[in-house]
Amino acid sequence: MTDLPPGALVVDELLEASVVGSFSKVGPLLRRRTAAWRPYDRMDGKFVVVTGATSGLGLTTAAELARLGARVRLVGRSASKLDDALYRIGRDVPGAEVTGSRADLSDLTDVRRLADDLLQDGLHLDVLVHNAGALSRSYTASPSGIEVTCAVQLVAPHLLTELLTPVLGGTSPSRVLWVSSGGMYTQRFDLSTLDPGPADYDGTVTYARVKRAQIVLSGEWARRLEPAGVVVHAMHPGWADTPGIATGLPGFSRVMRPLLRSPEEGADSIVWLASAPEALTTTDGFWCDRRRRSEHKVPWTRLPPAAAAGAGAALFDWCEARVRAG
Ligand SMILES: NC(=O)c1ccc[n+]([C@@H]2O[C@H](COP(=O)([O-])OP(=O)(O)OC[C@H]3O[C@@H](n4cnc5c(N)ncnc54)[C@H](OP(=O)(O)O)[C@@H]3O)[C@@H](O)[C@H]2O)c1
Repeated sequence: MTDLPPGALVVDELLEASVVGSFSKVGPLLRRRTAAWRPYDRMDGKFVVVTGATSGLGLTTAAELARLGARVRLVGRSASKLDDALYRIGRDVPGAEVTGSRADLSDLTDVRRLADDLLQDGLHLDVLVHNAGALSRSYTASPSGIEVTCAVQLVAPHLLTELLTPVLGGTSPSRVLWVSSGGMYTQRFDLSTLDPGPADYDGTVTYARVKRAQIVLSGEWARRLEPAGVVVHAMHPGWADTPGIATGLPGFSRVMRPLLRSPEEGADSIVWLASAPEALTTTDGFWCDRRRRSEHKVPWTRLPPAAAAGAGAALFDWCEARVRAG
């Protein structure tokens, strides 16, 4: 994309090539100035659902969207954390219209109940943010027997998107957003590795593989939902100082703390994709710092063209099979 003035483009591409410059707080610090980021657009009257809204990027996103005038439904697995998040947003954002739904996304029964609740409200859904996620240190299986990273960040958002399709799109375009991770740059998409067993479990690798798969699934949903007027984008937040990074990657978080983004800087592209008119003019983007990014940084993560062409449909069917079994 040549959407930036030449000076800003040079800064942006140097940051992107350096990786650390882009992912750390230096990225938004420089890009905000050189690319002249404008304030978010208002979202009055829009209805937004944010998963994982009790902490970190999800909580920050929910608060910012409420500040912009959106009615926000917070989804969280813990009733007390949900109450706390609702209290904090209500306290910090005068007039905020926020409600909560409790759902453990590792449990497909909870996902179905959540979708039923949202459908019963009969509200058109303007933005669905698939943000919930964590890096598991040890192997855990979901109630359906799916490894928990895969269950929460791939199968659950797949099912939720599917069940909520009737209230997305139509006369008013909607957006579905996937919060992935720059960690996905280290992995090639491989269906056979997505739901590992307990033997030789590596939580970091599993997380990165699932985050790569989110990009593939996001692309497939973008293709399927385009006729309904729904755009689908994925993004990565860089490295942001959240409870999730502190518990998931404690050593990394300790060493990198001075360079970590604030939660607001990490959540910026989520809020921007949820609110900016520009995000509706295109679909199937992978974004960081308000700009489309390559899905690959090293050649070996690219699939051969024939495999790449069929990957989204294969993953869609794979998720469907897990949903039917669960
Ligand atoms: N922070 C970063 O630098 C970074 C970098 C790359 C990608 N990300 C991605 O950004 C997203 C948010 O992460 P974060 O850093 O903000 O982490 P966080 O502070 O731990 O927030 C994660 C949220 O997801 C929720 N969650 C986890 N498992 C769940 C489940 N089974 N059911 C329902 N909700 C569940 C958590 O609920 P509880 O509060 O109950 O635990 C929490 O609200 C994740 O998808 C993460 O992979 C973050």
